[in-house]
This record gives sequence, structure tokens and C-alpha cells, in this order.
Amino acid sequence: MNTTPPSERRPQRVAILAGDGIGPDVTAEAVKVLTVAAERWDLPLELIDKPWSADHYLETGETLPEGAIEELRDDYSAIFIGAYGDPRIPDMRHAADILLGIRFKLDLFVNFRPIKIYDDRLCPLAGKGARDVDFVVFRENTEGAYVGVGGNFKKGTPDEVAVQEEIHTRRGVERIIREAFEYATRHGNLRVCMADKSNVMRYGHDLWVRTFEELSEEYANIEASHLFVDALAMQLVRKPQNFDVIVTNNMFGDIITDLGAALQGGLGIAASANLHPGRTSMFEPVHGSAPKYAGADRANPMAAILTTSLLLDNLGHREAANEVERAVAGAIRDGFTTVDLGGDRTTSQVGDHIAQQLLAPVGI
Ligand code: NAD
Ligand code: IPM
Ligand code: MN
Repeated sequence: MNTTPPSERRPQRVAILAGDGIGPDVTAEAVKVLTVAAERWDLPLELIDKPWSADHYLETGETLPEGAIEELRDDYSAIFIGAYGDPRIPDMRHAADILLGIRFKLDLFVNFRPIKIYDDRLCPLAGKGARDVDFVVFRENTEGAYVGVGGNFKKGTPDEVAVQEEIHTRRGVERIIREAFEYATRHGNLRVCMADKSNVMRYGHDLWVRTFEELSEEYANIEASHLFVDALAMQLVRKPQNFDVIVTNNMFGDIITDLGAALQGGLGIAASANLHPGRTSMFEPVHGSAPKYAGADRANPMAAILTTSLLLDNLGHREAANEVERAVAGAIRDGFTTVDLGGDRTTSQVGDHIAQQLLAPVGI
């Protein structure tokens, strides 16, 4: 419990970017939970809505206003994002500026995505459950195939050539692998597996192999292994129990974490954090804007709510973070879920229930 009166503590400003599609639906529930957590644990959180979204872009032509990134960096302690993606903007121009803009310009090089089963019934693998599926993915988040380097030649003609480059830097590769090893060390020497496609990508991914080998020697207490990403995809389905910490490049991390989400019960419960240790970081569910469910009060808010748990932890509110996670697990156990998890509750009912559990925990 924090004993400093709230008026004497520095506020922790959290920017809330609800975004598009189901983004606003799930963000409303995440905000509910953050508000209740702030009340119960007396946290100095100040939640501030930002309108940046597809609607805002289509109305004003603005993706992010001038100075927004600097403002987020300097005046905010954390950023929460619902989801981005709108069929009216097929090139994702606004999401490139907002979502990727925040990841890149704030240099949030760790995309941390935990894969965990909250109830054995959610695991789609026969005979497997919480004991088998429990790993985290460290996805490199600022380079690789996401750098947007490339171009077209003779675009729109039969002779068109398209070039899209991956960029991997020694510094960038080393820092994400180091974060994975540090995490593994902090959590009792977990196993670390690095995945790439170095049998084909002889330059960029070979840099990953060489860097990983060097760091494995430095972290001699950690069991380090390597898999090509296609083999990793197979092994995650066959033997998920073999994995504790996976570290991989930007694009492979994106793909592997949707597979991971499926192993834990679906995109409706997969959370993520975009981190640069010591700096303002960004938190978002793994799922997208699922436009067909927008405004229908049927999207699962648990991914967004579990994402607030990662955010609270990052801001130093460990107890609140743990309790939010426990409340979600409790709702799943009680069958208090949306249709994707087999329940019949709405988005807001699930959010209300979890918020209620936080305010009136059983046994108090
Ligand atoms: P998606 O994650 O939006 O949805 C895929 C499917 O997963 C949905 O049709 C739905 O069945 C299920 N799903 C996802 N979230 C759910 C939730 N909270 N509750 C219940 N079911 C859920 O992926 P998509 O359809 O490939 O992409 C839609 C748009 O979102 C695209 O524009 C895409 O680029 C974008 N996108 C954004 C993000 C992000 O903002 N971080 C992530 C992925 C995709
Ligand atoms: C994710 C998403 C994003 C990504 C898209 C929306 C740019 O799929 O966060 O997993 O590819 O990183
Ligand atoms: Mn993705």
C-alpha cells in the first residue's frame, strides 16, 4: 500500500488511444478496470483520452498531430491502445503513423507477449493445459521487415518490380536477445529459444545466429536453443511444454504470437506490452480491430484488461497487476465470458464483472 497521500504524489498520466473497430469497445472495459484499480489501491493514475483513430483521420486528414510523439514521451507514463485497422483505409496509413509510429519513434524495442492458459478448457490441444502452455515471446519491435524500406519500379505495369528490405542491426539484435536472457535469468533460469530462418536469410538472420551464440556464452546458466521458425511453429503445437522464453525478429514474432494466442484460448485473451525499459511504454492487446464486431458488445475485453495488468506492473503497481490477472482468471473459471470463450456475456458485462471482483474481492 502506498502511504504517501495522493495529492503529494506525481500523477502517472496514461494516454488512452481507443482506436478503431472493437478498439473502443474493449478499451472502455480496460478503462473501467484501471479506474477501479486506481480507486482500490489508491494509484495516482490520470487517464487521458486521445481521439487519434480512423474516424479522426477521415474527418481531419490528421493521423497524429505535430508534437504528439514528444508529448507522449515527455508528459505520459504509459500509453494504452485498443486496436487499429479500418476497411476504409486499406493501406493502414493512419495505423502506420500511430501504432508503428509509437513503437518506432519511442524506440519500444521489446514487444513482450506472454502466452498463458487461465483455464485448461481453453487449450485447443488434446490433453494439454496450463502446465504445458506457459511461455513468453520477446518480439523485436523496431526493425526487421517492419522498417518500410523498399519501393516499386514500373508500378502498375506488367514489368513491375517490388523491393521490400529487412534491416537487422547488431545493436538491435543484441538488445532484444539480451532482454530475453535477462528475463530468463530473473525468472529462475528459464530456457531461451531463438527462432529465425537463417538457412535461407544468410545475411540478416545469420547476424541473429552469431549474436545469439555470443550471448548464450555470457549467460552460461541458461539453456539456450535455436530453431528455424517453421520448425518452431510445428513444435509449439506438438510440444509447447518445451518452451519458456522465445526470442525472434519482428515479423516472425507477429506470426508466432497469433499462434500462441490460439494456444491460450484465442486472440480475445492475448495481451502485449511494447517496452523500452525505463521509458514511457505502450500497451495493447495482440488482436486487431475485428471490424465486423465493432460496437456489437460481443468482443472479448479480457485481452485489453490483461494488457492493463501489464501496464500496471510496468508503472510499479504489482499488487494491482496481479489482482487484475486473478480477476480475469476467476471470470474465466466461472464461465463469465463472451461467445469466443464459449460464454454468453457481453463485452460490458464481462468488464463490469471483473471490475466488481476488484472492488469486492471474495473473502474481504
Ligand atoms: P483481428 O485480430 O482484428 O481479428 C481476427 C479474428 O479474431 C476476428 O474476426 C475475431 O474472430 C477474433 N478476435 C479478435 N479479437 C477478438 C476479441 N477481442 N474478441 C473476440 N474475438 C476476437 O485480425 P484481422 O481480422 O486480421 O484484422 C482486422 C484489422 O485489424 C486489420 O486492419 C488489421 O491490420 C488490424 N490489426 C491491428 C492490430 C493492432 O492494432 N495491434 C493487430 C492485428 C490486426
Ligand atoms: C500486431 C499487429 C500489427 C503488427 C499490425 C496491425 C501493424 O498485427 O500488433 O500484432 O503487425 O505488428
Ligand atoms: Mn499481429
